[in-house]
Amino acid sequence: MCGIVGYIGTKEAIPIILNGLRRLEYRGYDSAGIAYLNGDNTLKVFKKKGKVNELVKHLKNIPTNIHIAIGHTRWATHGAPNDINAHPQLSASGKITVIHNGIIENYSIIKEALIKQGYNFVSETDTEVIANLIEEIQSRDGVILSEAVRLALNEVIGAYAIVVMSSDFPDELIAARKSSPLVIGIGENEFFLASDATPIVEHTKNVVYLNDEEIVSVKNDGTFLIKTIENKIKTPFIEELQMELEMLERGGYDYFMLKEIYEQPTTVKDSMRGRLNLEKGTISLGGIKDYEHKLMNAPRIILLACGTSWHAALIGEYLFEDLARIPVEVDYASEFRYRNPIIKEEDVVIAISQSGETLDTMAAIELAKSKGATVLGICNVVGSTISRITDAGCYTHAGPEIGVASTKAFTAQVTILTLMALLLARKKGTITDTHYHQILIELDKIPAKIEAVLKISKQIEKIAAEFKDARNFLYLGRAYNFPIALEGALKLKEISYIHAEGYPAAEMKHGPIALIDEEMPVVVIATNQSAYEKITNNIMEVKARRGKIIAIVAEGNGKIKELADYAIEIPETEEILSPLLSIIPLQILAYHIALMRGCNVDQPRNLAKSVTVE
Ligand code: G6P
Repeated sequence: MCGIVGYIGTKEAIPIILNGLRRLEYRGYDSAGIAYLNGDNTLKVFKKKGKVNELVKHLKNIPTNIHIAIGHTRWATHGAPNDINAHPQLSASGKITVIHNGIIENYSIIKEALIKQGYNFVSETDTEVIANLIEEIQSRDGVILSEAVRLALNEVIGAYAIVVMSSDFPDELIAARKSSPLVIGIGENEFFLASDATPIVEHTKNVVYLNDEEIVSVKNDGTFLIKTIENKIKTPFIEELQMELEMLERGGYDYFMLKEIYEQPTTVKDSMRGRLNLEKGTISLGGIKDYEHKLMNAPRIILLACGTSWHAALIGEYLFEDLARIPVEVDYASEFRYRNPIIKEEDVVIAISQSGETLDTMAAIELAKSKGATVLGICNVVGSTISRITDAGCYTHAGPEIGVASTKAFTAQVTILTLMALLLARKKGTITDTHYHQILIELDKIPAKIEAVLKISKQIEKIAAEFKDARNFLYLGRAYNFPIALEGALKLKEISYIHAEGYPAAEMKHGPIALIDEEMPVVVIATNQSAYEKITNNIMEVKARRGKIIAIVAEGNGKIKELADYAIEIPETEEILSPLLSIIPLQILAYHIALMRGCNVDQPRNLAKSVTVE
């Protein structure tokens, strides 16, 4: 969602901001804007609906000799995506400008009060309210900019990451956060402000992650000061970014999504690196070592997530219950937080999030913590909010995921959940030695087997060509592959805009079967050894209604291959590991169908990579 970038220092600011905005494009947005202070301290603002390229065209000439500027990509919440509602938003006097990510819940009350005091509003945004509120406080109380921002933030309710620039304070930028992310990059006499580290990494590796309700003032004399909104000075904790610039480039691939699909043999290996020791037959997860005992004795594990991460959580449920015999509850973070859930102190909550910034997941974590539960995290983005607010956790180490549709982060999440479940099963003695070692050996082979699936991409592309014009798709799976049916359907609808539904295969008879005719492609994930006969029956039921079967089968599994209209053979593996392989052809299928339909694979319409509002 909205992307924020700011710069103050000695270099040319505009190219840094525009480049930063391009790096943030992956978060999802529908308009972009930039503001800067000219040498004569006048504020200039340019905003445009559409992509950053539209903004660049609108700018015509890139201004030079600019050393302080801010930029924004907006994902519309209050007001349509148009030039006026785009950020930066200006205060009534035109002296203060604000970029904002989040939602101010009490904005209409503040707006009414400001209107009564004579303020006019030109946009429909809650952000313009912040700009005017800061202006009002500054003139009313005669305080400096940072103090006015602090006082204003004491009046607002909601989520925000903001950056404020004022023509009366040309030597500083003020930024603050609550529930929405904000990172400060520290260079040589220069500072970068951004929603995440992607616009910063090419300039500096030294960063400070701002905490909730903190305000920072960064100045062009190289100094910075962090305070809380209660006015307490904070000592900054400077961290080194573990990210490399190449990780943010397409590296020869046409799309980030394709690159990320192809990275999976490596990323799955990376998520196991240093954790799975095949020779010794051990699994060690350093991040949660101190919590192993708690997990083993937990009466219940609650897995919380949103989107694709929720699908990984569903696989986690099968894994923990099947292997470690621990009761598991899986919930959408957004539902959990509002359903007055029963949470006990002995419960262990595991929050799963690629970005580590999903607002609903963060709120669900806070709720669980407030009830005394232990909360662990499985995050991909190092230093993200969720990784910091949880008691402990494991990083997935899949590297930056830029494509909005999650691929490599998902397989990395499933890998971590598999390692966790195996570790607990071993410690609890709920798995036999033989089975444990068999799975470890198979797990070690998964990267090579993913590699083998990637080699049949051409065959999947041909199937994609057959079905690119379909209006609906049904995905069916059972047991470990039921969440894969959900995830396969999600991939397709996210990027191709074809309506797709995932269903547990047995549930087909309770509704979706009514939709089946010769127009309906049905993707069946039929690799499970345990439910082979049952899934064969489901296929027969679809065929009897002339639906077209695309079956994902394990090599050598002849019967379903014969029955299916199209069969995609993937390597055989242990059933509990099969999701790590069966999702790959579904990612490739969705990718090719979307491409053939002319869709923007990496930045699908209306979607955001990091959902920082409710
Ligand atoms: C958005 C993204 C999805 C992601 C979901 C949860 O909807 O587009 O790809 O699965 O948020 O995000 P998280 O970062 O918490 O995994």
